[in-house]
Parts: sequence; C-alpha cells; structure tokens
Amino acid sequence: MSEQQKIRHYLQFKDFSADEYAYILERAAWIKQQYKTYRKYWPLEDRTLVMIFEKASTRTRLSFEAGIQQLGGFAVYMNTRDSQLGRGEPIEDSAQVISRMSDLVMIRTFEQSIVERFAANSRVPVINGLTNEYHPCQILADIFTFTEHRGSIKNKIVAWIGDANNMCNTWLQAAEIFDFTVHISSPKGYRLDDELNKNIDKSRYKLFDEPADACKNADLVTTDVWTSMGYEAENEVRKKAFANFCVTEKMMSLAKPEAVFMHCLPAHRGEEVEAAVIDGKQSVVWDEAENRLHVQKALMEFLVLGKVER
Ligand code: CP
Ligand code: NVA
Repeated sequence: MSEQQKIRHYLQFKDFSADEYAYILERAAWIKQQYKTYRKYWPLEDRTLVMIFEKASTRTRLSFEAGIQQLGGFAVYMNTRDSQLGRGEPIEDSAQVISRMSDLVMIRTFEQSIVERFAANSRVPVINGLTNEYHPCQILADIFTFTEHRGSIKNKIVAWIGDANNMCNTWLQAAEIFDFTVHISSPKGYRLDDELNKNIDKSRYKLFDEPADACKNADLVTTDVWTSMGYEAENEVRKKAFANFCVTEKMMSLAKPEAVFMHCLPAHRGEEVEAAVIDGKQSVVWDEAENRLHVQKALMEFLVLGKVER
C-alpha cells in the first residue's frame, strides 16, 4: 500500500466504523480529563494544523486552534479573502502545496466536493469543518455530550426539528453507525435531500409533518438555524416557511422527561428555539459547545498517530 492510500480523512461521519468511534470517544473522555486536571499532553508536539475557512466560525476555529495547541502543535489560519484560494487557484494545486507544509488540514467550505477534491490531492489527513452537506465534527461532539449526560445513544430517539440541512444529514449517518432513530420534521421545501441520503436505511428515520409529533417520546430534541451559511439570500422567505418550526417548552414536554435539548449554535432565540428551552434545565448546549474541543483533540490524535497505546 502506498503512503497516499494509508492516509485517513474525516470528510463525512460514515468515514469511521463503530469500533473506531468507540475508541475516539474513549480517547476524548481521557483527553478531557487531562485538560480538566491541568495535565500536559503533547502527542502532536511541533505538528502543524492548517485551518481553511470559507465561511464564518466561532466554535470550530477556536476548538481546533486551542485543541492543536493543547496537544503541543500549532495552527495556521487561512481564509479565502486574503489567500490565493479566493483568487481562483485550483483546489487540487492548493491541496498539493498546503499539505506539503503541514501535518493536518481542516476545511470549512461550501460544496462537499471541495473537501473531497482537496483530500484526493492531500498528503496529510483532511477534516471537514462543515460543508453545505455535512458537519461531522459537530455530531461527534453531540454524541459524546449525550453519552456523558445520559449514557449510550443506542436505541434512542433523536428529534430533528427544522431545516433538513448539513446537521440533519450527518445525524442520519450517525444513526446507522450508533444504532438510533431520527424523527425529522421540516417545512415543505426544506425537507430531506433524498438523493444525498439515498444510501441511508429508511428504517433509521421517520418523517413528521408536525414538529410536535416528531418530539413525542424523544430522548434528544435538536434544531438549527433557519438559514444556514451560504443561504442568506433566502432569509426572508425562510422566516415565513419556518414560522411553525420553533422548539417550544410545549414540544419539550412531549419528549421523554429526561430528554436533553441540543443546538450546534449559534442560536436565534425566538426563531428556531424559545429562550426558555435553550436556557432551560434540559438544555446541554454549553457542554455540547465545549465538547467540540475534546472530541476534536481525540480526532486529530487518531488521524495523525492512529490508535495510541493505552
Ligand atoms: N457549531 C459550529 O460549528 O459553530 P461555529 O460556526 O461557530 O464554528
Ligand atoms: N447549519 C448551520 C450550522 C452552523 C454551525 C450552517 O451550516 O450554517
């Protein structure tokens, strides 16, 4: 096998097996514990992570930048406004150059094909930091967070309310690997992309017209902004279409009593979620945000070093 073939990338949630996720989540818990007890852990000393952003970010940038530093490495931030990426240099050429000067690359961009093309020409692992289609790092953090609060997510029900977007598509891939079910309720025109999700087993999800029905008996209720990055021109039209797709206290009362609420953030109180829900007792959104740091440290360790001795 050539060096090129041995490289692992994290472009979609389905890129890892259930066993690999079990390992990564265990590592994330251990790495989190080291961090919380001020223990230095530098497995990626002197390694360089290049972070490429074509869209805005708070959590993804911070968690990757702080994360690589806490593992002993460095981060280089690039965006399309002030690099040649924004002036038409081919993705393939950029990948060749950037991956010769770094150990790991994280990209937040538009079409999934961009990260796929970059990875196909990269000498180092590439991580999807969000595309129009998927957001695997976020769902990794969400599953870790659910597990911390409620134990295994196996056989649980995740209610997805709102836009059947990159987050929703990633939840479906996760449902197949972690063996849970997704209840989806989205307004007309913003429902699941059947072509993109054609390989998802239909028994993994159920579709509901009414968001309240999707919440019934759920173990986890989650939502996202009505307008994702890149779709801002549709904002006014979307506000009308999504008017009934706000996660309310009433909807939460239909879920299991021990159900948790998650949101990848940033959130718009009064749009996709009531303030009383996101700021309420069932909400775990701050743990969810923090856990981006810990799971991505485990992810970077795995991609660069493989499984380490325990
Ligand atoms: N959840 C998430 O990815 O947040 P950012 O857009 O701030 O990175
Ligand atoms: N679906 C949102 C997630 C932001 C973290 C977006 O793509 O903008």
